[in-house]
Amino acid sequence: MKSYFIKTYGCQMNIHESEKIAGILRDLGYKEADSDQNADLIVFNTCCIRETAEAKISGHIGEVSRLKQKNPNLIVAVCGCMSQQKGVAEQLKKRFPFINIILGTSNLQLLAEELARQTQKHSLIDTAEYNTVTEMNSYRTSGANAWVNIIYGCNNFCTYCIVPYVRGRERSRKEKDIVAEVSYLLENGYKEITLLGQNVNSYGKDLDDGSSFSKLLEKLATLPYKYRLRFLTSHPKDFTEDIIDVVAKYDNICKSIHLPVQSGSTAVLRNMNRRYTREYYLDLVNKIRAKIPDAGLSSDIMVGFPGETDENFADTLDLVKQVRYSSCFCFIYSRRKGTPGYAMENQIPKTVKTERIKQLIAAQNVITREISKQFEGKTVEILVDGLNDKYSDVYCGRTDCGKLVNFKCDKDCTGEFVNVKINRSQSATLFGEIVKK
Ligand code: 5AD
Ligand code: SF4
Repeated sequence: MKSYFIKTYGCQMNIHESEKIAGILRDLGYKEADSDQNADLIVFNTCCIRETAEAKISGHIGEVSRLKQKNPNLIVAVCGCMSQQKGVAEQLKKRFPFINIILGTSNLQLLAEELARQTQKHSLIDTAEYNTVTEMNSYRTSGANAWVNIIYGCNNFCTYCIVPYVRGRERSRKEKDIVAEVSYLLENGYKEITLLGQNVNSYGKDLDDGSSFSKLLEKLATLPYKYRLRFLTSHPKDFTEDIIDVVAKYDNICKSIHLPVQSGSTAVLRNMNRRYTREYYLDLVNKIRAKIPDAGLSSDIMVGFPGETDENFADTLDLVKQVRYSSCFCFIYSRRKGTPGYAMENQIPKTVKTERIKQLIAAQNVITREISKQFEGKTVEILVDGLNDKYSDVYCGRTDCGKLVNFKCDKDCTGEFVNVKINRSQSATLFGEIVKK
């Protein structure tokens, strides 16, 4: 039996796509290898959101040449966002001639065919069509949680972002297909469903059948199972009142909302083509908090976008202090070829970017710690994800509002809802002990 090893980089979308790749490979009779050293096939499922991601992946692909020398029959496949970029397949071919198969996000479904041929020839990336098969069988590995795509691609063209170029325009799945997949997963024991899309809030706009994200949420929340429903990622400009109302109405829709702001400065937001202002965003946060008081908000923020002044950055710091996110992913702006940001004047020097991100992370860390501290002494219901990677008797799971909780348990309680009393907190993580319901 041949074996595969998949290396996944990037976001939840990619993590789930790797489950689809595993599904394809298992249908072909492959089994999972315990390491790349022992695999007959290594798949790199790549990301290109920032230069750092691409540099890391190139390094890892380079390292595989040693394995290939030892085992000339080893098949190396590269797929995903990095190889979907214009001209990158050719560059990869030149730099790493040992790669057997190169696919993009648009033609992942050809993996089986390419493997069957097992030639040294490189496949071409079909950039015209983004028809990633939506109904591929996944081999899921995510414990109590299952990822479910609801919309592919992005129409927003934020000026820093490569995603619309490597994942094409928005394509929503039909509601009945999503409901069928979610029902199947719940029937098979999953306790948490996370809906995925680059911008889940615009779900249904391309379908012309009256579908919308809030209607989809309502439909899923009323399925007759005890489970939690999450969703990622929201665009503030499309986070309409009907969505807030549905999240507030149903207990099983998690009160954890990832609402990337990117910058706290209206001028920078305009240059980023985000299509909302600082005031709009703060108003949206107030509306959410008024209807969902215990909502845990999280965000993505970038520093050093072209033209960002000290004053603009001060606005971002100020917004972070006003909103008080439970957690925040902070990034240094990375110039992506092919995006409008690449050609913008006033690129910010690296030293300035580094100083700004330090300040941003420090400001958020204070808030993260304060919010975590508020949980001490409280009892929270968590859904157990599984064992903590580092310890053999420590389990972890998340609260409804998205906080990570560690606790000891002497039996396997993965997939169960348990009550945990929080004893202490350390930065973003809570520690506690199980108490009877
Ligand atoms: N540079 C840095 N960060 C970026 N992101 C997207 N594009 C870039 C870029 N060019 C960040 C955004 C987005 C998150 C997934 O990655 O904050 O929300
Ligand atoms: Fe990129 Fe903006 Fe689309 Fe998000 S909404 S994927 S940041 S273009």
